[in-house]
Amino acid sequence: MARLLLIVAAGSGTRLGREIPKGLVALAGRPLLDWTFDSVAPGAFARVVVTAPADRVEEFASLIGGRGRVVAGGETRSDSVRRGVRALAPEATDVVAIHDAARPLVTAEEIRAVLEAAEQNGAAAAATPIVDTVKRIAGGAIVGTLNREELCGAGTPQAFRAEILEKALSRGDATDEAALCEELGIPVALVPVSRLSFKITTPADLELAEAVLSSRRTREAPNMTQRVGIGFDAHPFVPGRELRLGGIAIPHEKGLEGHSDGDALLHAVTDAVLGAAGLGSIGDHFPPGDARWKEADSATFLRGARDMAKSRGFEVGNVDAVVIAESPQIAPYAVGIGARIAEILEVEAGVISVRGTSTNGLGFTGRSDGVAAMAIVLLKSR
Ligand code: CTP
Ligand code: MG
Repeated sequence: MARLLLIVAAGSGTRLGREIPKGLVALAGRPLLDWTFDSVAPGAFARVVVTAPADRVEEFASLIGGRGRVVAGGETRSDSVRRGVRALAPEATDVVAIHDAARPLVTAEEIRAVLEAAEQNGAAAAATPIVDTVKRIAGGAIVGTLNREELCGAGTPQAFRAEILEKALSRGDATDEAALCEELGIPVALVPVSRLSFKITTPADLELAEAVLSSRRTREAPNMTQRVGIGFDAHPFVPGRELRLGGIAIPHEKGLEGHSDGDALLHAVTDAVLGAAGLGSIGDHFPPGDARWKEADSATFLRGARDMAKSRGFEVGNVDAVVIAESPQIAPYAVGIGARIAEILEVEAGVISVRGTSTNGLGFTGRSDGVAAMAIVLLKSR
């Protein structure tokens, strides 16, 4: 039973009144979809699919990078969900979470709560209490008052066991998937979420989200213009594999074991970049075991971290890294490694420093069982 995530972002954002789709609209200096991605912790899912407007698939794909696969959505929201679910290719017992790109302030905890409720009940939806008095209207006048106690606001995340979702989606269109379940008589569990998971629909909503993020920023990182991050990684040697360190091949009788190419140095630098940007760890974004990263060039991870830091408004100031290995000697390759890391990070080679050291025979590196690497990164506000 796997957890899968669909982010729907194929709408045109008519009510927001911008030229571009909502997912690309700038919110506190970054595309709205970037914020949504930060909030949903995509690393917790076996597969992530995003629906984009059909003429923007490439643009969305380059924004999302390694964080998910982008497919074209459809005319209606239900069409988009059907296409997205097809791309996720769930098995019957998988659970699919569906989230509107237009709700960037959702939290990973809220998504998890909805998923757990769906795993238990088959279907679940995020709910908020109605705070206004709700009126029935006709001909521009109020003709009645609804009982608020019997009402709630329903939004996303919503989550469904795949077999239920498939049945629901075959019924037709609705403004959300819970409505399709209701038609089938399938109970949908309600999971209370914060009102901050509101959907950005109008220009006023965008202003509200800007205000929330700006108040968070002052609270969390007052006047922060520079941030440091640290990274560490170690991999064992195995015979029959090319040794990759710092993005280059180094002649050696053994290579480093790993799901990807095993490049412990690039992993340490990637983790340091992510850590400095407050973006979690390499495993959150590029989970080991994910088929996409099998035998992957670890430069992909570092490039992804660089782009995520960039969309948070940071660029790399400098990197200092140490490779801990008894053999091979790192010194002959240090300049080449530095140049390659600079190339991946798109910075001058002069701001990257790489050294090798040994542990004088102590421990696993001393026995030449493997290689460890440490990196420290300084990020500067752009
Ligand atoms: N959505 C989608 N495909 C559609 C329509 C909507 O994937 N054909 C997505 C939107 O991108 C959004 C979510 O469903 O993330 C909720 O829809 P809504 O807030 O209505 O967004 P838009 O349809 O983009 O906005 P508008 O209705 O104002 O045009
Ligand atoms: Mg819409």
